[in-house]
Amino acid sequence: MSELLALHRHGPAIEQDGPLPLVLLHAFPLDSRMWEGVVAHLPELPVVTVDAPGFGSSPSPAAVAEALARPADPSLETCADAVAASLHSAGIGRAVVAGLSMGGYTVLALAERHRSLLAGVGLLDTKAEADADAARANRLRVAEEAEGPGGAAAVAPMVDQVLGATTHAERPAVVDRVRGWLAEAPADGIAWGQRAMAGRPTRRSALEDLGVPALVLRGAEDETASQSAAQSMADALRDVEVVVVPRAGHMTAVEDPEAVAAALSALHERAEHRH
Ligand code: MLT
Repeated sequence: MSELLALHRHGPAIEQDGPLPLVLLHAFPLDSRMWEGVVAHLPELPVVTVDAPGFGSSPSPAAVAEALARPADPSLETCADAVAASLHSAGIGRAVVAGLSMGGYTVLALAERHRSLLAGVGLLDTKAEADADAARANRLRVAEEAEGPGGAAAVAPMVDQVLGATTHAERPAVVDRVRGWLAEAPADGIAWGQRAMAGRPTRRSALEDLGVPALVLRGAEDETASQSAAQSMADALRDVEVVVVPRAGHMTAVEDPEAVAAALSALHERAEHRH
């Protein structure tokens, strides 16, 4: 069966009796390329990076919703259903699934709707709480702006927020790369993503009784996903490791891919042990 979303496979082939696949879900408004550095540090694992609806090589959000017979309204539920359906089509019924920021919101929706898929979860630079009113209003404003003549210019200012002070001061190539990705972000993906995130509920309860190994990770310089938000998720989880990546902001996977790969590898090992 063909896969609904674009899945990018790395490392050894996925086998029934082989290691659990590690599935990585990207941040807004990027795509699977943001995991390149992390994947390079995990050559021994079968890794699948997934492009969300409207991003990278995945079909438009409207086409994804139609294929799943879901309402056309943007939602992370549709994104989670699309991830689960795509993995199912690829023969993956159980995996360690990690997501960064928007990818983490999708992991939370998977925990609510597709729990049997999850052998372990990674919640990176994300939060389980819904937006406050002001943040929601800002998302809807950015969505409209992206649909206007400026397109991706609506998200250009994000480069200042999503990278930490250390990266801005010492890693000019990372700043350039992220600026380039933001400039290329597709307008319909931006609009869909902002509206989907604006509509997401608080999903902390999805973590209670999850019963699989979990990782909560954040960059010490992250100004988007706070330490208290990370702690709130960790408090809801039974089997959790909390990792703080020093000298990194919200885009830990891009700012310090080696540290993120090490944390994901440890999560994978715990999940294998439990499997
Ligand atoms: C992301 O990195 O995915 C975004 O910062 C998420 C958000 O806007 O909440």
